[in-house]
Order: sequence, then structure tokens, then C-alpha cells
Amino acid sequence: MTVRPIRYLGDPVLRRPAKKVRRVDDSLRRLIADMTESMIAAQGVGLAAPQIGVSLRIVVIGMPDEEPYALINPVIVRRSGERRLDEGCLSVPGYRGNLTRSVRVTVKALDEHGREVRIKAEDDLLAQALEHETDHVNGILYVDRLDSGDDLLKLESPYAAAREAAAGAREAAAGARERAAAEGAP
Ligand code: NI
Repeated sequence: MTVRPIRYLGDPVLRRPAKKVRRVDDSLRRLIADMTESMIAAQGVGLAAPQIGVSLRIVVIGMPDEEPYALINPVIVRRSGERRLDEGCLSVPGYRGNLTRSVRVTVKALDEHGREVRIKAEDDLLAQALEHETDHVNGILYVDRLDSGDDLLKLESPYAAAREAAAGAREAAAGARERAAAEGAP
């Protein structure tokens, strides 16, 4: 299994409707293993194949405290209700958005053994992930679903916060040295 680099907004592979999987075999299961490992490494709850540069209709879902699983050729067969949610994406780092998603979602897909499965979710993180990841294989990103630019929020970079903390510590140290010098201490 290999952690593969995540593709970011601006990469054309994220905008291409992905190809349908025709055969579920060992090479596909190896790809799914890489996707799962890449999702876990990036601390995501879902990942679609185009996000690692592979234009195939495959997503992996990794809900907290649950075994991750793959959905091949996922199709949303039912959705209903509306709710406002906060959402992010591994391919759009540093941002979150506020958008409308469904309350109830049913997805039909194949599992990694080629068996047909139906996943139902209601009013939870899974329902959100099912819509988000199915969008990915259709070349859609959550930023496309925002009502306006005001619904996109830039997150403060953890590096910027660390730099500020370091600068604060240097200032405090310099202040302490100045005070010590003024008091004639060594
Ligand atoms: Ni995403």
C-alpha cells in the first residue's frame, strides 16, 4: 500500500467526470488500498480516486471508529430534505464552506468484491460524505455548490499560528534580556 499525493483545486483531473469501473479485480483492490491509506494519512473521512489522479468512479469512506470501505460506481438513488452544513475537502486545503446538503441519502454501488450494496444515511456525517464523494467522481467540488463567495471561509494556517507564537516567544526573551541588562545582571 502506498500513500499517494493529493491533487488540489486547479488540477484538471478533479474536473473530469470519472470513468465507470468495468471490472473489479486485484489491481482495482490495490488501488482501493492506496486510496484508503492516502485518506487515512490525510486525516480525511472520504476520498475519491480523482483526488489521487485516477479518473475512475471509486470512493473510499472512513467514518470515525468504523472500518473504511470502498464504493465502486456510486450512484445516489434517493435523496431528500435540506440542511445547512460546514464542509471541507482535502483537495481544497485551508478553506471551509457553508452549503446546503440533503438530510437523507441512499447510494447504490459495488463493494470491493463486485457485489451490489446500498448505503443509507440520515442527517449525519456519512450522508454528507456520500454526497461529497459522489460529486467528486462527477467532477464537482463543494465550492461549486456555494451560494456565494461569502460562504467560503479561509482557515488560519497552522504554520502562520506557529510563526506568531515563535515571534511572541522571541519578543518576550528579548524583553527579559533588556530588563536584565538594565538591572545590571549578567
Ligand atoms: Ni473532497
